[in-house]
Amino acid sequence: MYAPSKDILTTGAGIEQAQLIDNHGRKITYLRLAITDRCNLRCSYCMPEQGVEPVAHGETLSYEELERLARLFLEMGITKIRVTGGEPFVRRGCMDFLERLKYDLGVKHLVVTTNGVETARHLKRLKALPISGINLSLDTLDRERFRTITRRDRLADVLNTLYGALELGIKVKVNSVVSEETSDAEILQLGQLAEVHRLSLRFIEKMPFSGEKMVEARVDLGLAQRLAKLFPGLVERQADNGSTAKEFMVKGYRGSLGIIEGSSRKFCSTCNRVRITPQGMLKVCLYDNGVLDLKELIRGEISDEGLLERIRECLNKRFADGHQTESANGRAEQPSMASIGG
Ligand code: GTP
Ligand code: 5AD
Ligand code: SF4
Repeated sequence: MYAPSKDILTTGAGIEQAQLIDNHGRKITYLRLAITDRCNLRCSYCMPEQGVEPVAHGETLSYEELERLARLFLEMGITKIRVTGGEPFVRRGCMDFLERLKYDLGVKHLVVTTNGVETARHLKRLKALPISGINLSLDTLDRERFRTITRRDRLADVLNTLYGALELGIKVKVNSVVSEETSDAEILQLGQLAEVHRLSLRFIEKMPFSGEKMVEARVDLGLAQRLAKLFPGLVERQADNGSTAKEFMVKGYRGSLGIIEGSSRKFCSTCNRVRITPQGMLKVCLYDNGVLDLKELIRGEISDEGLLERIRECLNKRFADGHQTESANGRAEQPSMASIGG
């Protein structure tokens, strides 16, 4: 296991540089690093049965390259890094990488989004970091439905991760994608998780990131009204700034419920996040097609100052919201969420 040195822990991330701010005055403090597009599940809203065409290993950013970028962003005022995928833990060395981010680079809030299939065995090390929280994808508590949605029979492994994390006192947010097939009974059953446990359960509107052909705009499933009906006494509470979720309390519940809206998004005006895809594309919005090829730049031996300048240029041309980004980037095919990192 990786052991942190005392010096590293106390010296922090490095020289403080000017904060990254976009052309709409939004401070960028949150970096999402997708370290792989590979996954051990095949959720139908995310990818086709055969999976997405995997990126060749040489085309994926190495851990050293990821660390260089992370360090640079930290010097520019990033305080939170989320490691995502695909499924981050299918990439060998993911846990060591998380330890380097925390111990060497001194990330203040380090978080991970995982499907939980192979995560249980890493929980103790995650807790020791300490990880600031895990977001766990779990759309149903019914084994057959789980198998249908993910095309794999791994519900028991995911639950093992969920209960293991709760037992260790790791902060957990559960992500449940709601589709046309999701029943009220299923939503109520998931809701019980928030009744019994101190966790945040977020229902997510399906978004156009299935790795398949572009289809008509998504139907509005009226999630907020549906939850209000299913959970009487639901009260909205102020979500954290920059959060994509609307959060609700229910009387008597230990945890909270939430909704992450797709097309009816209202959080863009406070968006504080940027993303890097497994292939090293910088995305300044979930809905853009990648605005800067960081991999090409760093493999071309650009200086940190040079990189910084190019990143700032992109942030100076950021669209005000996802709708504008989407219409500027007409797409024939939906990219898979796995190749973006969510
Ligand atoms: P935290 O706020 O850090 O907990 O992260 P999160 O909830 O945004 O991240 P997570 O990886 O758990 O993703 C949950 C859902 O939010 C996924 O469906 C993501 O695609 C969606 N999401 C993440 N970022 C954005 C965004 O910038 N815009 C929109 N519309 N959805 C997003
Ligand atoms: N729409 C909404 N959410 C999605 N996710 C994956 N694909 C989609 C989609 N098409 C969610 C996963 C995971 C998070 C990172 O993104 O369930 O929790
Ligand atoms: Fe894998 Fe997440 Fe996509 Fe499901 S949604 S196939 S768990 S990357």
